[in-house]
Amino acid sequence: MRGLVSLRDLSDAQVASILELAGRCREGFHPEGSLRGRTVTTLFYEPSTRTRVSFERAARLLGAEVLGFDPAGSSVEKGEGLADTVSTLAAMGSDLFVVRHPMVDVPALVQRWSGVPVVNAGAGRGEHPTQSLTDALTLVRRFGSLKGLRMGIVGDVANSRVARSHLELFPRLGMELSLIGPATLLPDHDPWGVSRCHHLDPELGDLDVVYLLRVQAERGAGRGIPSLGGYARRFGLGEDRLSSLKPSAVIMHPGPLNRGVEIDDAAADGEQSLIREQVANGVPLRMAVLAQVMGVAS
Ligand code: CP
Repeated sequence: MRGLVSLRDLSDAQVASILELAGRCREGFHPEGSLRGRTVTTLFYEPSTRTRVSFERAARLLGAEVLGFDPAGSSVEKGEGLADTVSTLAAMGSDLFVVRHPMVDVPALVQRWSGVPVVNAGAGRGEHPTQSLTDALTLVRRFGSLKGLRMGIVGDVANSRVARSHLELFPRLGMELSLIGPATLLPDHDPWGVSRCHHLDPELGDLDVVYLLRVQAERGAGRGIPSLGGYARRFGLGEDRLSSLKPSAVIMHPGPLNRGVEIDDAAADGEQSLIREQVANGVPLRMAVLAQVMGVAS
């Protein structure tokens, strides 16, 4: 595997291999020291808590040295361009870049410019491959086979790189996906051919996975809805809607949460929520990705 820029780059066998290794790491298998002597550089041009910290923890658990690059306080503030920043960090001995950026093409560009593997940690409205793989690990651990399960992706799909990665990954794992949200927050272009619905309540009882998305105000999502309160009433998963769920259904969210908007405390912290499990699984999943990209584990 040469980097992980897009899930389209992974064969079904590679997806299965990552999930299998991540599952073993989750159970305590640590291929410790497998990245000893290697340097992993995190290059985050957008904010992050879960993704960045879990990549850094995963790299350290594998024995790598971690360089965390922050554009704030760096020579980016003096006008240094991305290509020169990447070239500078590559010259210091980076063996792999983990890249988050508001522009979709940047992870692929960094891989081309630097000549070292890149793992896409979220690029604009493009993809977030390791979030989807983390969520697949979480669902496999809960349900075993995913074949025939129904996932409703609820909310700001138009702005969501997580949703785009889910639409690439989960049908390949046998799941049926639907998009649920106001027309203004669903993508205009639909190459996936999945069903779309503008009302949450009629769908809830049929879903095995309710996957909630954050309304991304920083990408202008607020312009697509009259108010956050109105959105919460139509599409928010609150205590009043929990009784509509199948007893076996699970609630997921990639984080960060807008509590009181797309989800409330009863849904986020209740028995059907897998949100903390998603976060916990992020570390072993990223260990598996780093090990396989660096060719030190199979
Ligand atoms: N899910 C996710 O990407 O979270 P962060 O932005 O905190 O990394």
